[in-house]
Amino acid sequence: MSAAVFPGRFAGKVLVVTGAAQGIGRAVALRAAAEGGRVLFVDRADFVTEVAAEAGGEAAAVTADLETWQGAEAAMGHAADRFGGVDILINNVGGAIRMRPFAAFEPDQIDAEIRRSLMPTLYCCRAVLPHLAARGGGTIVNVSSNATRGIHRVPYSAAKGGVNAITQSLAMELAGQNIRVVATAPGGTEAPPRRIPRNAEGDSPREQAWMAEVVDQVRQSAFMHRYGSIEEQAAPILFLASDEASYITGTVLPVAGGDLG
Ligand SMILES: NC(=O)c1ccc[n+]([C@@H]2O[C@H](COP(=O)([O-])OP(=O)(O)OC[C@H]3O[C@@H](n4cnc5c(N)ncnc54)[C@H](O)[C@@H]3O)[C@@H](O)[C@H]2O)c1
Repeated sequence: MSAAVFPGRFAGKVLVVTGAAQGIGRAVALRAAAEGGRVLFVDRADFVTEVAAEAGGEAAAVTADLETWQGAEAAMGHAADRFGGVDILINNVGGAIRMRPFAAFEPDQIDAEIRRSLMPTLYCCRAVLPHLAARGGGTIVNVSSNATRGIHRVPYSAAKGGVNAITQSLAMELAGQNIRVVATAPGGTEAPPRRIPRNAEGDSPREQAWMAEVVDQVRQSAFMHRYGSIEEQAAPILFLASDEASYITGTVLPVAGGDLG
């Protein structure tokens, strides 16, 4: 069980966290549960059930492929059935699959990046709306990236630029319905080895070299010249999700050591 930095901060709230089996999503979901939220952990990976069990209490898990509309709709419906509604959606699924100069991307690889890092957020935002409306309001936090200005992952950058556009435009549309839409834009984040790799085919030596160039660029672009930790990403996501951020909407908050993305 994760440490509750602000005990009771999410008491009475139902949260859906996508991509909750590992990385930033796992940390966000466990801490939200520790701080009193009833949390649905959603992921494509089966072991999301084990992760939700770590949270104990009323946490639940469901597997869904959020690159499909059916998966997004089923996940939000599951949360409403299980917990009686949804108050907060954290759209965390995403991540660059491949690092390479744009000229080296094949068309199917471009499509895969958009499917991974734009469509789950677009579908889940749409699928949660009736549930938030039924509660009289709520909050959506999207996890974007500072890669909107960065090398060797242009299709991913484009997907995250789309996430920023969803955040701003949907916030404008929904402010009158008591629904806030906000985002963080994480920078490079240190993480333990991934149980589910970003690229199931593994990275070739050439791709590893391109990845090293990305790491250099990300470090140089940050005023702090370092990567952040998973905890340093989870904290601002949960602040934006909480009622402490009640006058913040349409904002994409860079969390990248000074790099604005
Ligand atoms: N880690 C970083 O350095 C970094 C930097 C900037 C932005 N981000 C963003 O933060 C978010 C989380 O990053 P991370 O590194 O923790 O991710 P990760 O790759 O470690 O984990 C992503 C999780 O999402 C799940 N997932 C992937 N596709 C899915 C799908 N179609 N349906 C359901 N679940 C799916 C995976 O199974 C996995 O558990 C992403 O949106 C990423 O773009 C991360």
